[in-house]
Amino acid sequence: MKKKVTKAVFPVAGLGTRFLPATKANAKEMLPIVDKPLIQYAAEEAVAAGITELIFVTGRTKRSIEDHFDKAYELESELAIAGKVDLLEQARDVLPREVTCIYVRQAQALGLGHAVLCARSLIGDEAFAVLLADDLIDAQPFALQQMTQRFDMFPVSILGVERIAREDSRKYGVVSVHAGAVAERLYRMQGIVEKPEPAQAPSDLGVVGRYILTPRVFDHLAAIQPGAGGEIQLTDGIAALMKEEAVMAYEFEGTRYDCGSKLGYLKATLSYALKHPEVGQDFAAYLRQMALLR
Ligand code: G1P
Repeated sequence: MKKKVTKAVFPVAGLGTRFLPATKANAKEMLPIVDKPLIQYAAEEAVAAGITELIFVTGRTKRSIEDHFDKAYELESELAIAGKVDLLEQARDVLPREVTCIYVRQAQALGLGHAVLCARSLIGDEAFAVLLADDLIDAQPFALQQMTQRFDMFPVSILGVERIAREDSRKYGVVSVHAGAVAERLYRMQGIVEKPEPAQAPSDLGVVGRYILTPRVFDHLAAIQPGAGGEIQLTDGIAALMKEEAVMAYEFEGTRYDCGSKLGYLKATLSYALKHPEVGQDFAAYLRQMALLR
């Protein structure tokens, strides 16, 4: 098995029903936080972590993702003719040249585990990353970079986790870990369960959308039955993997926004807007003014 993680899977076939009607004809991963779509934040995080092959598992209404990472000939020539160099760079330099994008269709929405399985033939026999773009993580270094650094020392599957409120366990895969950290913030996992009731949750460590997985997980994903919600769950594939390999949970450093929910999306927008070099100061002044008005 290759030692470095160079391939990442982005499951983007989900329907995004929580953002209807905005997501009726457009991908939820294309919703912008200020001026950049969610999927680009995730792609940049992957590239910073050393990923050179981005594999998007797409579905209907997701064409805009492919267009986003493609060359935009008309736009680029218009901007070039108008001499708008800054804008031209922004349109053109969405990803570094050495990065390849591959698109594979998930014909039916059978679950996250099934989506990851769709990338099997493109991954082959190497460890790979999975990023869920609606989990936006503000961190430096990025969460996936933190995880690939751990993977260099412990080349096993590693899941990004964070502390969650007990009553939110129904929204997450929840893990239990062995006492004592293996390394800073890194724990050996004991169990994992998808979206348990709070009373059944094994701990308050919830899985967020960052995974490094060994290729053996594909065998399990191909064999498991539908789980929670009648879907082929990635969590169940990982639970099966844990019976034969060590799997770690990594409590990343950073702030994570659940951009799959309206409130999380708004919080992310606010926080990224305040930091934005172009509008940050004015936006802060506006918010102060709003607070005074009340
Ligand atoms: C998925 C996973 C879940 C994980 C979550 C993180 O759930 O199935 O284990 O905790 O992502 O965002 P979803 O949010 O797609 O329902």
